[in-house]
Amino acid sequence: MPLRQPHAHFAVIGQPVAHSLSPTIHKAFAQQWSIALDYSRQALDADQLPQWLAEFAAEGGAGLNVTLPYKQTVIPLCRQLTARAQRARAVNTLSYINGHWQGDNTDGIGLIADLVQRHGIDLRERRTLLLGAGGAAFGVAPALLDAGIAELVVCNRSPERADDLVDALEEPARAHTRYWQDLSELGHFDLIINATSAGRGDAGLTLPIVLASSHTVAVDLGYGHAAIEFSAWAKSAGCRQVIDGLGMLVEQAAESFYLWQGVRPETDPVYARLRAHVVAEGAIE
Ligand code: ATR
Repeated sequence: MPLRQPHAHFAVIGQPVAHSLSPTIHKAFAQQWSIALDYSRQALDADQLPQWLAEFAAEGGAGLNVTLPYKQTVIPLCRQLTARAQRARAVNTLSYINGHWQGDNTDGIGLIADLVQRHGIDLRERRTLLLGAGGAAFGVAPALLDAGIAELVVCNRSPERADDLVDALEEPARAHTRYWQDLSELGHFDLIINATSAGRGDAGLTLPIVLASSHTVAVDLGYGHAAIEFSAWAKSAGCRQVIDGLGMLVEQAAESFYLWQGVRPETDPVYARLRAHVVAEGAIE
């Protein structure tokens, strides 16, 4: 049972973190429970991580959210990993428990909560395409299988990373890889998840229209400007629904908050506020 830790410090670590919405989200959750939360942002270089984590714990640090590019880097710094962090081979939540850091991963459960509870999507028996095989894809793949999808096809530009991901899932009956250059030969999917980082770079994401039908739900794990290109593709391909990663961001934060505070926040009002902010910034859903 998680324990409420009223005087502890919390933070998000990554590089960069200047635009991270995590402090806003966690402070809004804390307000709902009248908790005076101390939650900051910390940009770190990889070689600073071990010492910084030790100092943060010594100064009363109780929990950290871990964002890009350190979700895998922090694994050796954990004494313990939860089962879901082990399966995802990535950590987005650190809790300081009994003198050591425990690593957990709430990204997968956050995605499923957003799709099922907020958007009312039935994931059972869905034929699913996962684009990408980096940290983000590792984080959500086990949770998608647990949610009951029928098939998980993983496609990545570099095929060996897709093979690694599917090997780690140990579900040969449902999860398999296909080559990126064969994307136009795979038929259409009920669910297409963009877990590539293409939207954050300049290279662009080129996808065939035939992957989608009028029943397809297209989901980008990114939000804001990073999600514009995939969302434009999904609309032009005639997808039934196009969802970005803002809801998942709020839901994974809610799960971390619960781990640390032992109480569940209401996510809808926080999501609505952030959505208005993203729309105001010009990156419209
Ligand atoms: P993250 O933690 O966000 O997943 P990552 O581990 O660097 O970041 O992984 C980025 C993913 O996006 C990879 O699957 C990458 O493909 P490669 O493994 O072939 O590099 C994918 N990716 C990035 N840019 C892409 C592009 N323009 N088209 C297709 N895939 C892309």
